[in-house]
Amino acid sequence: MTYLRNYLLIGLFPLFTFVIACSPSILPPLQSDVPPAKEKWNDVTFEQLSQGYKLYTTKCGKCHYLHKPDKFSEGKWREGIEMVQDKAKIDSLQKELIIRYLLISKETHSYLKDK
Ligand code: HEC
Repeated sequence: MTYLRNYLLIGLFPLFTFVIACSPSILPPLQSDVPPAKEKWNDVTFEQLSQGYKLYTTKCGKCHYLHKPDKFSEGKWREGIEMVQDKAKIDSLQKELIIRYLLISKETHSYLKDK
């Protein structure tokens, strides 16, 4: 019985990978992201999150695919973006906007939600 279950799991694995790899692209932030975002950064606005989204999707998908916001921890995001800041030609403000967008959509999963 356990053998059968293992085969099933192995068999389903490529399917999961396929579904995840082909899931819809990353969606923009929602108004409902603003209150939880304000708990982290009290000066944050919806416009900032939208700008962060725009920067992320235009500047960060040139050399590798766009990583889902969920993929990395906050520390890893900050580290990764630090590493590629020069390559991606973004300044510190743009970097912070991208981070804010990524961290809030990671928390609320709004990048998966259609309006
Ligand atoms: C000019 C090409 C280029 C651009 C543009 C670029 N990256 Fe990268 N990125 C890389 C390369 C190459 C690596 C592999 C790590 C290294 O630099 O050795 C990487 C690695 C990363 C990692 C670490 C991935 C891991 O698996 O550990 C993160 C996170 C990341 N990039 C985020 C971003 C973000 C966010 C942006 C937009 C601001 C961005 N990248 C734009 C080339 C780029």
